[in-house]
Amino acid sequence: MKDERSSTQEELSDLLVEERHFEPPEEFKALAYLRTGEIREKSWEDPEDFWGNAAKGLHWFKPWDRVLEWEPPNAKWFVGGKINACYNCCDRHIKAGQRNKAALIWEGEPGDSRVMTYWDLYREVNQFANALKSLGVKKGDRVAIYLPMIPEAVVSMLACARIGAIHSVVFGGFSAESLRDRINDAGAKVLITADGGYRRGQIIPLKHDADYAVKETPSIEHVVIVRRGDFPLRVKAGRDHWYHRLIQEAASYCEPEQCDSEDILYILYTSGTTGKPKGIVHTTGGYLVGTYTTTKHIFDLHHDDVFWCTADVGWVTGHSYLVYGPLAAGATCVMYEGAPDWPDRDRFWAIIEKYGVSIFYTAPTAIRAFMKWGDKWPDQHDLSTLRLLGSVGEPINPEAWMWYHEHIGRASCPIVDTWWQTETGMIMISTLPGVDRMKPGSAGPPVSGVRVALYNSQGQEVKTGGGLLAITYPWPAMLRGIWGDPERYQEQYWSKWENIYFAADGAKRSEDGYFTLLGRVDDVLNIAGHRIGTMEVESALVDHPAVAESAAVGIKHEIKGQAIVAFVTLKEGHKFSTEVEADLKEHVVQKIGPIARPERIVFSADLPKTRSGKIMRRLLRDIGEGKILGDTTTLADATIVERLKQQYEEQEDA
Ligand code: PRX
Repeated sequence: MKDERSSTQEELSDLLVEERHFEPPEEFKALAYLRTGEIREKSWEDPEDFWGNAAKGLHWFKPWDRVLEWEPPNAKWFVGGKINACYNCCDRHIKAGQRNKAALIWEGEPGDSRVMTYWDLYREVNQFANALKSLGVKKGDRVAIYLPMIPEAVVSMLACARIGAIHSVVFGGFSAESLRDRINDAGAKVLITADGGYRRGQIIPLKHDADYAVKETPSIEHVVIVRRGDFPLRVKAGRDHWYHRLIQEAASYCEPEQCDSEDILYILYTSGTTGKPKGIVHTTGGYLVGTYTTTKHIFDLHHDDVFWCTADVGWVTGHSYLVYGPLAAGATCVMYEGAPDWPDRDRFWAIIEKYGVSIFYTAPTAIRAFMKWGDKWPDQHDLSTLRLLGSVGEPINPEAWMWYHEHIGRASCPIVDTWWQTETGMIMISTLPGVDRMKPGSAGPPVSGVRVALYNSQGQEVKTGGGLLAITYPWPAMLRGIWGDPERYQEQYWSKWENIYFAADGAKRSEDGYFTLLGRVDDVLNIAGHRIGTMEVESALVDHPAVAESAAVGIKHEIKGQAIVAFVTLKEGHKFSTEVEADLKEHVVQKIGPIARPERIVFSADLPKTRSGKIMRRLLRDIGEGKILGDTTTLADATIVERLKQQYEEQEDA
C-alpha cells in the first residue's frame, strides 16, 4: 500500500491547481437528448428501476421476470428474459424502416472504402452465421477472431452473436504466441483471420502468424480466411476456408438464437497482475442494455450523427462503442483500418472532413501525439461537423484536454472524459454533455444507474479527497466472471471490501461529486491506453535464454502516457551489449506483440528486493523517472538501488 499512496499524493498535488471549467455550449444544450440531471439523480436512488426502463428500448423475444438477482459476487440481469444481440443491432433497424441507413462507413489504410447499410450488414451477417453453422459451430462454442480493422470483423462478431456462439476477439497486433494462449484458454473451435492487414503502409501477415498459433491449438477445427489484399499465404485443405466462398454458398437468412439474457456474448482477454491474461466474460442482455444506454446518454446520439470511435475491435472500447452500443442504437459508425499518420499526419482530420463525422471518440495517447505533431495538421481541414468529443483509456492531462477542446473542438464541442474498464463493459464515470460543467482532467460523476465511491483500504468511505475507486452496486454490463477461474474473479474484484467491486484505480472526489482518476494502484501498466501486466513482460524476458530475472515498470512518457523500462539480470556467462538489448526487445515483441516493446532495457547485477524477496518496483520507477529515491528501509540490501541508479544514468549517457 505504501508505494501506492506516495505516488497518488504526488499526482494529487499536480492536479489540484486545475481550476478551469467550461459549461456545455448553449447550442449543444438546446438540442441535447438530456438537458437536466433529473433522470440521473433518480437513477442513483433506484438503479433497478432505471435499468428496467432503459431495457425497454431493446427488442426482447420474451421480457424478463426480474431486473436483478444479486448474490455477491454473482449478478444476473434481466432474469428470464430472452434476447439476441445481433437481432438488436441489425434486424430491429431494418424492421423500423432503416435498411438504407449506413451502418458502417469503412476506410482502408490505402484509401479504399466500403459503406455497408444496415441491410448490407444484415445480409452478410446472416450468410456468415449460416457459414459458421456449416462449420459445426453451435450455441456456446467459442470462436476466435484475429482480424484487422475491416468490416468482416464486425460481421464476424455479430454472426457469432446471432447463433449464440461466444466470440473471443484477439487484437491483430498481438503475436502468434499470444493468440495461441488465448485460443487455448477459451478452447476455441474456429479461428477467423485474414491474409493480412495494412499498418503504416506495411502488411501485417495475420494468416502467417495464425498458422504458427494453430500448430499448438488442438481445439481449432477450422480456420476462415478473409481476403483483405492479395497477400501470399498457405491454405491447408480441409482446415482452411475462404470467407468469400463460404458466404457465396450460404443461405441468406439465419434464424437468430433466442438467447437467455445471461448467456455469454463474448470473452475478451485483458492483463492482470499475474502473467496469465484474464478472459473477461460478458453476457448478453445486461451488456447490451448498458452499452446501448450509455451510447445514447453520454454521446447524445441522434439519428443523423456520424459516430467515430477510433478504438480497434480487439479492445473493449471497440466492442462496446464501435460495435454493440452504437449498432444497437442504430448509429452510423466510421471504422478506419490504419495508422493516424499514414500517409500523413492529418489522416484522422481528413476522415472527419470526408465523412462529416459529428462524434469523435479517441484516447489521450493519440491526442498527445496530435499535439506534438502540431496544429497545422487539423488546421488544414474543415472539422465543423464535429459536435461532441470523447476520451477514454487513461487519464487525460489538462493540457491535452485544452488542446483537444481548442484545436479539434474549436471551443464549441463538449468533451466527455469517460472512465471505465474491460471489466465494467460500459462507461461508468462521465459528465453528461448537455448537462454538466466540464473540468479538464476530471472525468465527472458516475453515469445514470451506477454507484461509485472511494474507499480507503480499511473499508471506510472517503467523501472528498483521494482513495481507491469502488463500485458499490451491480450494473448491467458488469463482467460475470473470468473464463474458467471463478476463484480469481472473487479474489481480484470482490475480496478487498464486502460486496463492493475493487477497480484497482486511484481517484479523488471533489465536493461537487466529480471523480478525477489518478491511475492504477496495482502492477498493471497502461501503455497508450492498453493494459499490460508487468508480469507478462517479465515472463517474456525471462523466457529468453540469457535472462535470469527481470522487473518491468512503467515510467512517464510524453505520448504513450507510460513506457516500459525493463530491469534485467543476466545468467552467468552472458554479457550486456546493445545487440543483447535489441534481441531482448524483439523477444518481447515476439512473445506479446509490438505494444509491449520495452522502451529501454537496463542491465543490472541485482534487483532491489524486500527481505521477503519481493521486487520493489516503486524504487525502479523512481530510478526510471529520475526522482529522488523513496523509502529504502525495507530493502534487503539498500546499496543495490544506489548502484542501479548510477548505472541507469551511465547507460543513458552512453
Ligand atoms: O486505469 C483506468 C484506465 O484504463 C483502465 C482500464 O483499462 P482497459 O480495461 O484496457 O479499458 C480501457 C478502455 C475502457 C482503468 O482501470 N482508464 C480508462 N479510462 C480512463 C482511465 N483512466 C483515467 N481516465 C479515463 N477516462
